Amino acid sequence: MKIISNIQDLRDQLRGQNRAAFVPTMGNLHEGHLSLMRLAKQHGDPVIASIFVNRLQFGPNEDFDKYPRTFEADVEKLEKEGVYVLFAPTEKDLYPEPQEYRVEPPHDLGAILEGEFRPGFFQGVCTVVLKLLSCVQPKVAVFGKKDYQQLMIIRQMCHQFAIPVDIIPAETIRAEDGLALSSRNGYLSTEERAEAVQLIQLLKQVQEKILGGNISPEEILKIEREALNQLTSRGWKPDYISIRKRKDLLSATDSELQSNEKLVVLAAAKLGKTRLIDNLEI
Ligand code: PAF
Repeated sequence: MKIISNIQDLRDQLRGQNRAAFVPTMGNLHEGHLSLMRLAKQHGDPVIASIFVNRLQFGPNEDFDKYPRTFEADVEKLEKEGVYVLFAPTEKDLYPEPQEYRVEPPHDLGAILEGEFRPGFFQGVCTVVLKLLSCVQPKVAVFGKKDYQQLMIIRQMCHQFAIPVDIIPAETIRAEDGLALSSRNGYLSTEERAEAVQLIQLLKQVQEKILGGNISPEEILKIEREALNQLTSRGWKPDYISIRKRKDLLSATDSELQSNEKLVVLAAAKLGKTRLIDNLEI
């Protein structure tokens, strides 16, 4: 595997490749990321990965400085997966001058859910992803459904900018007890790790209630409220638990619910100091 940090070197290395499959990451790789590499391999060749902890997507009080950086272990894992090039730019490589041009996603998708609680997050994500795509110029790029809203926003961005890349969604990989794998799980204490499984358990309960029968927008609100209370009473600090339409992440109207609109339940909550997110398609 070639490890490249400079944009021009990357372009030189990838010249003539027109079927590349790209997996952008922030490193600290776990099985979830490796499943993205395997999916990438099914959709293109060669597989290009990137590791870059993108300052632009972290708020001033978020974990940019303490975000886990495990470069050597990551390299070993990517080598085992047969990744051809790892693009690992420094901040100077990717942002040699202040990144003044930014991509702002539309408010109705970018300022809700994660965007409401992490202002600037999706602007930072879109900006770096656009730049990475422009450096790698892959045929396909793989993003996990764990970050459901991110996946939708990136897909829409590529569509509206006519970027010639197919965005491939990857299923969430979970620990045996159901907790979605995430680099941030590493922040959890032993007790918190045991409690963390409650998030997916709760999403499953919400799913069951919705599948249970004819449901109205009022009942949806009630289910959301009960779920929030349940997490709060266990000591969590939930940001949101929201049942939305899969196609646009807006709330479903009565008639949409009657016509079996496809839904997803999304949640974000803090357990101690660690903020976890998860979602479940219904
Ligand atoms: O999902 C992530 O790890 C990041 O948001 C991404 C897509 C690599 C952009 O920094």
